[in-house]
Amino acid sequence: MPIQRVGVVGAGTMGNGIAHVFARSAYDVVLCDVEQRFLDRGLGMIARNLDREVAKNKLTAADKDAALGRITPVLDRAKLAGCDFVVEAASEKFEIKSEIFRDLDRTLKAEVILASNTSSISITRLAALTNRPDKVIGMHFFNPVPVMKLVEVIRGLATSQSTFDAVRDLSLKLEKTPVEVNDAPGFVSNRVLMPLLNEAMYAVMEGVATPQAVDEVFKLGMAHPMGPLTLADFIGLDVCLDIMRVMHDGLGDPKYRPCPLLVKMVDAGWLGRKSGRGFYTY
Ligand SMILES: NC(=O)c1ccc[n+]([C@@H]2O[C@H](COP(=O)([O-])OP(=O)(O)OC[C@H]3O[C@@H](n4cnc5c(N)ncnc54)[C@H](O)[C@@H]3O)[C@@H](O)[C@H]2O)c1
Repeated sequence: MPIQRVGVVGAGTMGNGIAHVFARSAYDVVLCDVEQRFLDRGLGMIARNLDREVAKNKLTAADKDAALGRITPVLDRAKLAGCDFVVEAASEKFEIKSEIFRDLDRTLKAEVILASNTSSISITRLAALTNRPDKVIGMHFFNPVPVMKLVEVIRGLATSQSTFDAVRDLSLKLEKTPVEVNDAPGFVSNRVLMPLLNEAMYAVMEGVATPQAVDEVFKLGMAHPMGPLTLADFIGLDVCLDIMRVMHDGLGDPKYRPCPLLVKMVDAGWLGRKSGRGFYTY
């Protein structure tokens, strides 16, 4: 089935970025969230990010206007019914995603592929909630979506080859690079990245080095664009903790045990950049 009209559920950090890249690539986008203020914030962010691309001569002002004109914000999820493809980028809570998947499975045409941008929830488990498990897949974008090239395309146990091929082709049309991964806690990106961040936190907790020193080691010695603690603050310490817990529970190996300092900081409400305090003060 040709894909022209794309539904994006969730207009937050990732959802607005995903809507941005689809609209920029000439897809019609229906962007859905639960409150008007979240839609307004998402659309404002898209407009500002498109302006940046115009300023860098990556787009013309006319391209920007056309892209914005292709996005229809909606509060009523039933308005996604006419979409040819839907990607869910709502909050990382299984109860929220399971309700969305069950509902979309009832309302979307039977041939429509249902993708999730989840960072850690099992695609196989989400698929099993629907009557189309062969058409459920992970399409894991990276923040900031308009800039980052990678899409981790995650096959659930039941995902069909034609669903995988369709999402790989779609990623290429968005000028992204799809990488194939099988469903497992943390997929590849977080399974490898998060233990690095977690270990950096242990180094700080044990007094091996300050956060600044740990970050300098990675910036200057490994040519990382930002050190692991700066990155953890940027991602959000609550998000890091949730992902470590998913891997600890799902893989059952003590090497994924969340660093106690991370647990304590999240308990204190020190969530990184977004709360003004994490390993650094903002
Ligand atoms: N932030 C990242 O770096 C990142 C990277 C890759 C993947 N992800 C994943 O992307 C998803 C979204 O993350 P985010 O960082 O954009 O979160 P966010 O909190 O910025 O945005 C989530 C949005 O979903 C909306 N929402 C909640 N319930 C909804 C519902 N029932 N229907 C429609 N909208 C609903 C919220 O109102 C909010 O606007 C999560 O699954 C997360 O794991 C995040």
